[in-house]
Order: sequence, then C-alpha cells, then structure tokens
Amino acid sequence: MLLPIIISSVFVALIVTLSHKFITGDGDFTLLSKGKVKRESFQDKVVWITGASRGIGEVLAKQLATLGAKIIISARNESELERVKKEISGINGPERVEILRLDLSSGEDSIREVVERAVSLFDGVGVDYVIHNAAFERPKSTALEVPEASLKATLDVNVIGPISLTRLLLPHMLKRGRGHFVVMSSAAGKTPAPGQSVYSASKFALNGYFHSLRSELYQKGIMVTVVCPGPIETSSAPDMSTSGQKGVKEKRVSSERCAELTLVAASHGLKEAWISYQPVLGVMYLVQYMPSVGFWLMDKIGAKRVVVARQKGNTYSMNLLFGRKQE
Ligand SMILES: NC(=O)c1ccc[n+]([C@@H]2O[C@H](COP(=O)([O-])OP(=O)(O)OC[C@H]3O[C@@H](n4cnc5c(N)ncnc54)[C@H](OP(=O)(O)O)[C@@H]3O)[C@@H](O)[C@H]2O)c1
Ligand SMILES: *[C@@H]1O[C@H](CO)[C@@H](O)[C@H](O)[C@H]1NC(C)=O
Repeated sequence: MLLPIIISSVFVALIVTLSHKFITGDGDFTLLSKGKVKRESFQDKVVWITGASRGIGEVLAKQLATLGAKIIISARNESELERVKKEISGINGPERVEILRLDLSSGEDSIREVVERAVSLFDGVGVDYVIHNAAFERPKSTALEVPEASLKATLDVNVIGPISLTRLLLPHMLKRGRGHFVVMSSAAGKTPAPGQSVYSASKFALNGYFHSLRSELYQKGIMVTVVCPGPIETSSAPDMSTSGQKGVKEKRVSSERCAELTLVAASHGLKEAWISYQPVLGVMYLVQYMPSVGFWLMDKIGAKRVVVARQKGNTYSMNLLFGRKQE
C-alpha cells in the first residue's frame, strides 16, 4: 500500500530537483554533475592558451597557474601579455609562464615557427593542452551587412588559424602519445545566432573539425573538449546599465565561473560542455533535442533580436518572443 506512494514521492522529488537545477544552473547536466576540477590533470602540465591577453583567456591562465600548470600565453598584444605574465608570475613563479606572441591570421609559415618554439619551451617537454580561446571581435550585424573583410578575418582567426596550429602541433603530440585540445566554441556554435551569422558559422566549423579530429585520433591518445558558453561577463561584454532597457540586465555567467567550468570539463575528459544561464541553455537543449521546435523559436525571434542588438538592448530577453512583430 505504502510502496506506490513512496515511489511516486521519490519520482516527484527527482523531477522537482532536476527542474530546479535546470532553471537555476549555469551549465549542462553532465558538466554540473562532475563537481570540481581534477587538480592532477593540470599539475606540472604544459598548457598553451591562445587569446590570453584579456577576457576569458586571461582568467583561464590565472586559474591554471593556481592549479600548478606550466603556462604558455599567446595573443598579438605584447604589452598586455607582459601584464598577464607579471600577474601569473606572482602566483606560480616566473619560470612557469612563457609568452609566445602569435597572430592567428598570419598564415601557416609563421604559425609553424611559433609551434616549434612552443614545443621547445620548459626544456622541450612538449605541450599537453592547447586551449583554443582566441577569437575575432564579434560586432552584431545582419548576415546581409557583414563586410567581406570581417568575414575573412573571422574565419582566419577563429577557424583557419586554430586548425593550422593543431595540424602543426599534432605530430609532436602523437609522438608522445598524448595531447588535449580544449576548444572555446560558443552557444552560437550549437544554435542559430541572429545578428552573428558569420561568428556562428566559424564556431559550427570549429565543432565539426574538432569532433571529427577526435574521432580519428582518440585511440592514439588525442582528446578534444569542445566548450560552448552562452553570454559571459567579461570586460568587453556590453554594459546593459547604459542601454535604453532600464532595469533589464542580461544575466551573464562570470568569466571566472566560465573558466572554472571549462577546466572541470577538460579535467573530466568531457567531449562537449555547455556553460550558460537560462534562457540560452534551454534554447541549446531545444535545438539539440527538438530541432524543429528550436528552429521555429529562433525564426520567431531572429529579426527582432538583430534590432534589439543594434539598440544595445537585452538580446536574451523573453520579450523577444512576445514583443511586437518586425517588418
Ligand atoms: N565573452 C562571451 O560572452 C563569449 C561567449 C561565448 C563564447 N566566447 C568565446 O570565448 C573565447 C574568449 O572570449 P572573450 O570574450 O574572452 O574574448 P576577447 O575578450 O574578445 O579576447 C579575445 C582574445 O583573442 C585574441 N585575439 C584576437 N585576434 C587575434 C589574432 N588575430 N591572433 C591571435 N589572438 C587574437 C585577443 O588578443 P589580441 O588582441 O592581443 O591579439 C584576446 O586575447 C572566444 O573564443 C569567444 O568566441 C565568448
Ligand atoms: C595593446 O594594449 C594596450 C593597452 O590595452 C593598448 O594601449 C595598445 O594600443 C595595444 N597595442 C596594440 C598593438 O594593439
């Protein structure tokens, strides 16, 4: 008599807990179930971070320093890299951080030189992790308005550069029988991103390349973790307090938390991880598991979102769905 009641109460409690986690969580279920970063995954390992002169890359570098990693930081801006190096030296000692200036749009020959220097650092032990984090700026504009120059630059920095670097470094990793690529993709690499079509295309390209690469080389010790963050709070994130939409603040995951979850995902060997609050996380689930509903939703809000972005409003607001139609 009692058993069905107990079973159904447990069931209801489970549903309530999961829904609560889904509504308030800042990542996908698998990622959040993993708990903390495994320190031993990074202790004394060589980790090469691109785009480490600011934003999420800088925060990743600092967190890796506290985890005892040997760090290579890359970007174009040397003075910013020097500043980051100085700050990391305070955590980890100056002999455990190196700067490699790198322009990802500079072509295969100059990337090759940088790769050769990377494998020679720290007495030539080799690179254990590459965090492909650098990306070209992503101003919001409609697909029709994207200038040719920005199209080329986005694909060069976000796609061709990281693939070249990977291809050039892989032989070294295969010789050691291990290597791990952590790829900063985006929610825009999983769902349509109205107003960011080319950026979205570049992130879908990364996902396709790196998941394929892993399927080819997994049994030879090559790991890939594709990380797809939604809106993240960085110094370059739009400041909603100055927008017309008073009191409506985009809820963004902090760059510290984004970096932490990225390292959780990598250290637990996850193949893909999503980092975001609602509603973006829910849209990712919809598009992944119920694409016809997800695409229907995106088609409904897309045009309006581009307009709101131009007014520097909240592009993640529920109002997009219920507001006035755009012509
Ligand atoms: N912030 C978000 O809301 C968000 C959301 C989802 C995904 N993401 C992804 O997370 C990653 C980091 O984002 P973020 O917001 O921290 O970026 P960010 O603040 O714009 O920093 C971009 C980094 O990339 C470097 N970079 C740009 N062009 C380069 C080039 N040609 N060669 C080499 N390095 C270059 C920049 O350094 P230099 O200018 O010194 O070269 C900088 O360190 C990106 O892949 C981004 O797509 C971010
Ligand atoms: C590098 O960053 C500094 C400080 O943010 C800036 O003043 C300088 O113009 C940048 N250098 C280049 C080459 O972009």
